[in-house]
Amino acid sequence: MMSTSTKLWGGRFRTESSTETEAFTQSIDVDSRLVAHDIWGSQVHAIMLARQGIIFDDDLRQILRWLGKAESDFRDGKFALKPEKEDVHMNVESYLIEGAGSEYGGKLHTARSRNDQVLVDAHLYIREQLLDTQQGVSRLCRAFLSIAREHIETVMPGYTHTQHAQPISLGFWATAYVSMFLRDQKRLNAASELANFNPLGACALAGTSFPINRNLTTELLGFDATHEHALDVISSRDFIAEPLFALTLLMSTLSRLGEEIVYWTTYEFNIATLDDAYATGSSIMPQKKNADIAELTRGRTGRVYAALMDLLTNLKGLPMGYNRDLQEDKPPLWDAFDVVQSCLGILPGLLETLDFNTDRLELLVEANFATATELANFLVSEQGLPFRNCHEIVGGVVGGLAQKGKTFRDWEETQQLLRSEGIDLSIPQLQRILDPKLSLRNNQSLGGTSPAEVKRMVGEFEAKLDEIDSQIRSRQGQINAAYQKTRRVIEQVLEGKTITDVNF
Ligand code: ARG
Repeated sequence: MMSTSTKLWGGRFRTESSTETEAFTQSIDVDSRLVAHDIWGSQVHAIMLARQGIIFDDDLRQILRWLGKAESDFRDGKFALKPEKEDVHMNVESYLIEGAGSEYGGKLHTARSRNDQVLVDAHLYIREQLLDTQQGVSRLCRAFLSIAREHIETVMPGYTHTQHAQPISLGFWATAYVSMFLRDQKRLNAASELANFNPLGACALAGTSFPINRNLTTELLGFDATHEHALDVISSRDFIAEPLFALTLLMSTLSRLGEEIVYWTTYEFNIATLDDAYATGSSIMPQKKNADIAELTRGRTGRVYAALMDLLTNLKGLPMGYNRDLQEDKPPLWDAFDVVQSCLGILPGLLETLDFNTDRLELLVEANFATATELANFLVSEQGLPFRNCHEIVGGVVGGLAQKGKTFRDWEETQQLLRSEGIDLSIPQLQRILDPKLSLRNNQSLGGTSPAEVKRMVGEFEAKLDEIDSQIRSRQGQINAAYQKTRRVIEQVLEGKTITDVNF
């Protein structure tokens, strides 16, 4: 008895799927982003099949003609994906079969599984998205570097426990973010490398008896190499977990930045002012100017963390081979990329237009004993006392001043309190030792806050970013070159060349 199912996989089915089954299992809303990737993978697969003599030149020509039409129709909004066709892969193949007829279109799926397609499409998509993300991180780093260059000498209190700790420069603060983001670049790059392997040709799980050439599809899709082990690659989703982890840590840093922006722009801190273009108001309180971008960055971080947990939880119980659970790898991945990239899109502009209140920073750095360590250090160097004793002496001075509501800038009090500890320093001497700008200059240790070190790090980070940017361009070049090569092969086939005469 013949099947009455209209599904491409319907042969063994006696009835049509229930509408609930269709609605429950379809992934169209999610994988519609993969149409172009699915078509590229299909074109390359068909070319390989013909080149290997598995399908005929006529088959290839028809398949390529209709896949090309699917691509342009989708672009022009004339190829609507149908949920009852389940997913992007079945939609593209159905479009092809309807257009070219089953005698041609029906041959595309020779020596190929949907599991292959799911993986190829995801690999192609991830590698683009990672490059876009890396570009976004670079732009953000450059925004920080321009803050750093401008504020190499701008003093501010550095904090520990959110309490004034020691003077640092605003440039030093800005370069700290670049230093962090450069590690994010490394993680994203590593994720890119791990994803740039070709899964196509694994077939369902066991390879195939057809004489396919997997290295040819690797070349035409611009992958670095073929992911050989069929069962491993079909079962693996670490190429998704790695980007998600990289995105998670990146998002954590963006969230911490968001937190700093939120409280730096409060009335209480008042050390930075957001440009109106990067702030929002209140529906009821006319005076409000809120740091919503920073808050939403912080607030969306959970979604990215959740994406990683979602995928890891999905994977932990899965036996080898494809399991439908794996369809659920995409929503969290999409969401993580979307959230991170939207933050990366807006934060550089916010930072470039952020107005730092340098007078206020200078005031704060003098207000609460941030130079106390400098005084202790001076006593160590000049008086030859052990650091612990100096810590004790300066602690006593600070305690005495604080009790009376005074600061180091009450020079006579400071001098008196030191004298009572047997330390005799002139007021000009004290003013020098406790000058936050001089304190900055003194911190010349490798990676310290001194202008000289910050300047050096700015230069170094800039060079690293240039290197990363050129690496991104070369990866994009590799993808484009492979894409163009596929185009050239397709053109030759459509012009009537037989596959054996085609120039690869
Ligand atoms: N849309 C599905 C996914 O993304 C398609 C895979 C179905 N494959 C299968 N062997 N049943 O995973």
